[in-house]
Amino acid sequence: MKIDVLTLFPKMFDGFINESIIKRAIELNDIEINIIDFRKYSTDKNKKVDDYQYGGGAGMVLMPGPIFNAIDDLRTDDSTVILMTPQGKKYNQKLAYQYKNFKHIIIICGHYEGFDERIRSIVDIELSIGDYVLTGGEIPSMVVIDSIIRLVDGVIDEDSHLNDSFNNNLLDYPVYTKPKNFKGMEVPSVLLSGHHENIKKWRYEQSLKKTKERRPDLLEEDD
Ligand code: ADE
Repeated sequence: MKIDVLTLFPKMFDGFINESIIKRAIELNDIEINIIDFRKYSTDKNKKVDDYQYGGGAGMVLMPGPIFNAIDDLRTDDSTVILMTPQGKKYNQKLAYQYKNFKHIIIICGHYEGFDERIRSIVDIELSIGDYVLTGGEIPSMVVIDSIIRLVDGVIDEDSHLNDSFNNNLLDYPVYTKPKNFKGMEVPSVLLSGHHENIKKWRYEQSLKKTKERRPDLLEEDD
């Protein structure tokens, strides 16, 4: 899988791609992530990428030119172009499972007051990570990339993500480690029983209980 990220703030990604699971995924699992400053696609001598909005109003708006040039340069038949915006479709785990099969993702991070509406014409998917507004699409793009990469075969132990919250529309069951008794709080005895069927049943019941208490909306979703 190849992911190209178009941003005005490439340094924001330094820690993200150079640490932990994402770093290992890039090294071991045939994942390529390119962080691209789309100023390089500006044809202006000062590398300008934004300007005042027609009609008046506060803030600068990203111009279509540099982003069109970037997409022209990067797009192939295998590409999906994603624009991060609070106006997009709400991102979730089901989408992460779909997107992990994409061969090439190009993510455009919006910034400042917004982007020229015509940029939408070259985008395949507009995505929001939730109903709040961040200063730009960089953090949202990292959220999306992280959630996709951990699902790519070989990146983490498959069991870890099969039990994730949101799989089968259920929140994850509670887990415990040592010690068996911590400040009077005991590990549930079924987990110490070695009885795999009972453990499986208990975990499912706990998932269901937690989901009913905390996120009953998930149980009403289709599939
Ligand atoms: N850019 C700013 N806020 C955003 C959000 N909630 N989702 C995606 N992109 C954004």
